[in-house]
Amino acid sequence: MTRPPNEQTVARLTIDGVPTEATAGERLVDVIERMPIAIPHVCYHPQLGAIQTCDTCMVDVNGALVRACATVIADGMTVNTASEKARAVQVEAFDRILSSHLLYCTVCDNNNGNCLVHNTTKLLAIEHQHIPFRSKPYDVDESNPFYRYDPDQCVLCGRCVEACQNVEVNETLSINWEDPNPRVLWDGGSTIQESSCVSCGHCVTVCPCNALMEKSMLGHAGFFTSLKKKTLKGMIDVVKGIEPETGYGGILQVSEVEHSMREHRIRRTKTVCTYCGVGCSFDVWTRDRHILKVVPEHGPANGISTCVKGKFGWDFVNSGERLTMPLIREGGTFRPASWDEALSLVARRLAEIKTASGPDAIGFIASSKCTNEESYLMQKLARAVVGTNNVDNCSRYCQAPATMGLFRTVGYGGDSGSITDLEHADLVIIIGSNTPESHPVIATRVKSAHKLRGQKLMVFDIREHEMARRADLFLRPKPGTDLVWLNAVTRYLLDHGLADRQFIDQWVNGLDAYRQSLDPFTMDEAARLTGLPVETLETVARTIAESKRVCVLWAMGVTQHHQGSDTSTAISNLLLVTGNYMRPGTGAYPLRGHNNVQGAGDMGSMPNMLPGYQSVDDPDVRTRFEAAWRVGLPATEGLDNHQMVEAIHEGRLKAMYLYGEEMGIVDSNANHVSAAFEKLDFFVVQDVFFSETCQFADVVLPAAPSLEKEGTFTSTERRIQRLYQVLEPLEGSRPDWRIIQSVANQLGAGWSYQHPSEIMDEIASLTPLFAGVSYERLDGYRSLQWPVAADGADQPLLYTSGFAFPDGKARLFPVAWVGPTDQPDHQFDLHLNNGRMLEHFHEGNLTYRVPGIAEKTPDTFVEVSPELAEERGLQSGSWVRLISRYGEVRVRALVTDRVHGRELYMPMNSSEILVNRLTSSYTDSATDTPAYKETSVRMDVLAERGESPLPRINWRFGHPTPQSGVEVERKWKRSDYRIPGTNFLRVLKS
Ligand code: SF4
Ligand code: SF4
Ligand code: SF4
Ligand code: FES
Repeated sequence: MTRPPNEQTVARLTIDGVPTEATAGERLVDVIERMPIAIPHVCYHPQLGAIQTCDTCMVDVNGALVRACATVIADGMTVNTASEKARAVQVEAFDRILSSHLLYCTVCDNNNGNCLVHNTTKLLAIEHQHIPFRSKPYDVDESNPFYRYDPDQCVLCGRCVEACQNVEVNETLSINWEDPNPRVLWDGGSTIQESSCVSCGHCVTVCPCNALMEKSMLGHAGFFTSLKKKTLKGMIDVVKGIEPETGYGGILQVSEVEHSMREHRIRRTKTVCTYCGVGCSFDVWTRDRHILKVVPEHGPANGISTCVKGKFGWDFVNSGERLTMPLIREGGTFRPASWDEALSLVARRLAEIKTASGPDAIGFIASSKCTNEESYLMQKLARAVVGTNNVDNCSRYCQAPATMGLFRTVGYGGDSGSITDLEHADLVIIIGSNTPESHPVIATRVKSAHKLRGQKLMVFDIREHEMARRADLFLRPKPGTDLVWLNAVTRYLLDHGLADRQFIDQWVNGLDAYRQSLDPFTMDEAARLTGLPVETLETVARTIAESKRVCVLWAMGVTQHHQGSDTSTAISNLLLVTGNYMRPGTGAYPLRGHNNVQGAGDMGSMPNMLPGYQSVDDPDVRTRFEAAWRVGLPATEGLDNHQMVEAIHEGRLKAMYLYGEEMGIVDSNANHVSAAFEKLDFFVVQDVFFSETCQFADVVLPAAPSLEKEGTFTSTERRIQRLYQVLEPLEGSRPDWRIIQSVANQLGAGWSYQHPSEIMDEIASLTPLFAGVSYERLDGYRSLQWPVAADGADQPLLYTSGFAFPDGKARLFPVAWVGPTDQPDHQFDLHLNNGRMLEHFHEGNLTYRVPGIAEKTPDTFVEVSPELAEERGLQSGSWVRLISRYGEVRVRALVTDRVHGRELYMPMNSSEILVNRLTSSYTDSATDTPAYKETSVRMDVLAERGESPLPRINWRFGHPTPQSGVEVERKWKRSDYRIPGTNFLRVLKS
């Protein structure tokens, strides 16, 4: 099939006698692949580029043999992919591949139609190999809990190395090309388990054969592969034994029959990751309820990328601890109940409380782990059925301040571009975000652009995480002072003629008042408050001014402060002053934490907004919703989740319905929150597991996780994606949307949604932001980035023709400096920071139920700097007691130079040792987001000493081996390497 010509088409070439056209810069292999021509290639992967290790893609171009993967097309090329010499060279190259791979497809778990070694053997019609298989003198490495490496199956294509070095950029893998027996190495020669490998799975995903395989596949995918090792070896010997007589043709025929039998029992279902807000999507391969593997390839946000959670973090789905029947509190304990009984009780008690105390005595907490459709139904239940705007979600705990900062300045509360814009920026500034651990796949894109394409990276953080170590400039302002340097740098740019005046004149309002507000923010004052030298701040300002395209990424290190909204606003102001909006490669990127925290807000799970950020106090908006829902709606703003806790304490809020949130431990000042829950008259908690919050419930309803339902999630880049049902809901549990609908109907709502697509149709009809969203437009891997017009046009880059205000202009929004709360003093002398860890998600309810994750990262800890450890006489494993003004915890210390001086850091991912017993009830002044990051403690060193809380097998103890990629040139320098065809060409000449 030839491509239709268009204005980009510049080259005309002939391939196997067929004229075709292609775009400048295309790789020859890609052009050939588009035609009905099959050429062999083993090391090439479109998302990895030309690796050039396998030589099997050699074709004849204008009479010369070249690698099709490494050849860029040119006008007038004549290409022959199957000339006698091209074919002979391909066969010779592939023969070498077979010499390092034991071909036993019929009894191989990778015999699923996508094994490149199998497929190439067939394509080239190989009957016998000329170079015999030579075993490599290494054992299989099975040390990692998730995958294994079999050197004897490894064809040394280097895909895994390229993926690890330059896509994931963890830089763990290499090949020892100079060794007589090259192999893939972890950290230059460690076991996988003791290496720096983060188990992201990139390498396993791209391996073209069975050398790297998910352990969950082994013994489960094939019909004959679950045999005992000894029997399996016997069968492999049989297969190899008959090869000289039958040739590979016969053997492949048998293996293809076996493969087609697998098609009937292996299901491949697309889903979207349930963990963070990056929005990775992938196919999940299952056999009954067994998850064989996760295959990322076509996801618009992630391609081949995942982190350990998305690739391997699904065991919780089959945990024996899943809730499978409703529970009702009776006396001090819970008893199992039928769905009918539990739902009637919920409806009866909510109705009674509404009658006795009014609808505003009831609060609803929606889950940012659940789907858009479920969030929509929850707020509809609150507003249309119960009659209150008391509905909120956990964006209150993290992202509400960022949304506020963007609402104030540019109009939409979402990332202003896409992940690809981050890749194309000249300068990325990361403020208060441990991106590689919190948003791992986004980090890979920035790490890769920085490593390979010269992107500049500036990091502002109090903790020296991986991005800080990679940064061109890493700065540690005093905790909570980001607003100060941001304002000072912006003032410097304006005062030194370094602002983008043309952009401001055309697109921005409010410059004069804004500039006046910056008067206090001199460089000297900023240096005094932040601790950063004036010269450094000036360097920051000049670097921003000199960079054509700047993106700022920020997260909870900014938002979870008393001035989280103001600091987010200051970031957006800086971007406006420098003209870093409205162009690819620029903009504001507040990184959303949960998979659907963006969607929970978009869907109106907020006390002041109906779906699509339409204000509850706008009569026109309310009229539209009232007409559609056929009910009157409350006009006054409801309570956010922080205010709900206070209202419970004050006796104003008497009942709560919460689903998919561990509010009892993720809210700040957890003791205060627990005390509130104990005061509730009636509390419904709906979750997959019996969470800590369930302990306070009167009724617990068993929900189904994302793999067991359909719906959509909206990721941090405003990307709406469909998830399909991978597994049936575990017997006894139900998808949240069905449960919410049942509760609504018990209260007389009369809803009749049969499928989440019908809910989305209703959302689209009422929400201009989602006007053109439909399940058809989201089919498979298709996605839309809001706002989506009625005709389906979406906006990967926001603000292409103006900002989201009536006059199309952005607004500079002055913000003053107030300073952080809960400051250290003589009694509480240390600053306690907290945040995420790569392996665990949030409170860990899901990830601690993944044995491989729990094995490598079994517990929480407090990070202590080497200097503080020496001063206090403690080591890793020492137990300490941290005491704040609000509570105390016992926890083991981990001594690390990731933290400096008197800074402590505690991961938030533990439901047992809760950092939130220490955090305060102070909040962001504009949004009520808790000021989690403003916590002072004192540390008592206890007499007990234990093991280090992080075992040696944790990746943080590894030693990566950065290199430019697979470094194929080193292979080519080997004395035994020659370009395939050398002999053949010599023969031809003679
Ligand atoms: S970090 Fe580990 S799992 Fe990820 S690509 Fe590298 S070696 Fe593979
Ligand atoms: S382990 Fe790596 S080098 Fe070996 S075959 Fe797989 S991807 Fe290629
Ligand atoms: S947790 Fe985030 S980065 Fe990891 S696979 Fe899931 S969506 Fe991707
Ligand atoms: S595919 Fe071109 S060298 Fe391997």
